[in-house]
Amino acid sequence: PSLVVVDRAGAEKSIEADTGLTVMEAIRDNGFDELLALCGGCCSCATCHVYIDPTSVSGLPEMSADENDLLDSSDNRTDASRLACQVPVIDGMKVTIAPED
Ligand code: FES
Repeated sequence: PSLVVVDRAGAEKSIEADTGLTVMEAIRDNGFDELLALCGGCCSCATCHVYIDPTSVSGLPEMSADENDLLDSSDNRTDASRLACQVPVIDGMKVTIAPED
């Protein structure tokens, strides 16, 4: 699958990812250094906060209570907020790296 990533400067880049990766892994593996992902994908740090364009994708997995709680700790939460380590790559999705809290 391929996805479009928008960095904090607003630059868009199309990247390819292997099936089965999370959005966090796909972004990290493509050289973006803005997505800290400090906990490595354990859903405990919230530094992998992204916005997923709802018009670009359907069928995202439901948010867990843990993910919801962590996102609540962000000042920049929107309806499009997700933790990138909790979402699988889906072809065609557009993902924007959220501002640093
Ligand atoms: Fe820490 Fe996603 S990498 S919550």
